Amino acid sequence: MPVIEIKQLVKKFGKLTALNGVDLTLDQGEVHAYLGPNGAGKTTTIRVLLGILRATSGSVSIFDRDAWKNSVELHKRLAFVPGEVNLWGNLTGGEVIDLMLALRKTGTSHTERREMFLERFELDPTMKCRAYSKGNRQKVALVAALASDAELYILDEPTSGLDPLMEKVFQDTILDLKKEGKSVLLSSHILSEVEALADKISIIKEGKIIQTGTRAEISQVAAGRTLEELFLSEYQGR
Ligand SMILES: Nc1ncnc2c1ncn2[C@@H]1O[C@H](COP(=O)(O)OP(=O)(O)OP(=O)(O)O)[C@@H](O)[C@H]1O
Ligand SMILES: [Mg+2]
Repeated sequence: MPVIEIKQLVKKFGKLTALNGVDLTLDQGEVHAYLGPNGAGKTTTIRVLLGILRATSGSVSIFDRDAWKNSVELHKRLAFVPGEVNLWGNLTGGEVIDLMLALRKTGTSHTERREMFLERFELDPTMKCRAYSKGNRQKVALVAALASDAELYILDEPTSGLDPLMEKVFQDTILDLKKEGKSVLLSSHILSEVEALADKISIIKEGKIIQTGTRAEISQVAAGRTLEELFLSEYQGR
């Protein structure tokens, strides 16, 4: 049973078709990179998965349960970083992290993981959220998600705003999650950011998946070009 199974997902906003028949499968213990240019439909897909948006048609399930009907229950088993991080300005980073962890209570204490990730990402949890820089606000959302001992992590551009050192910390953290057998859906604009992490890669463009497969499979499609070259040519529509 796949962890995430999306079949023929269509999402329309009025006249605009944001997702036009998306298929995507995330298997247990895998990291699946979800790549595509601005406006391709990554965040919309993730919002449907999280039960924030309702699909126009198609089926979307997590742990074999309908993502829309069972969102409350599913949220106890997953952790996520939203694409655009808006945090409560008047709370400190630490308070937001605690709040997110409490919402997702799994019975176990998160204290140890919380401390570990605060340290790894060099984040001061005592500042008010409105005072954080963009990158540090992103870290609050990251630490909140990573500190919860979830089965599934859904990360929408988790490294946007992070500097290269933190990017490396992030990469190591994802490899650790993989060792723990966790499943991860990871969206990004940049292939090179996720290439070393991803078991599978799906490329979305204008609401359609244009490539999907293991890294090796996609390399074959690349036919002598590097993956980066293939990726950029898909971006540019050549
Ligand atoms: N609430 C909404 N109402 C109307 N249109 C929307 C809404 N949300 C997204 N869209 C449109 O759906 C399309 C897909 O947007 P989405 O945010 O999913 O792209 P994305 O791949 O996450 O892009 P980015 O890389 O910039 O984050 C875009 O054309 C966007 O304008
Ligand atoms: Mg997005």
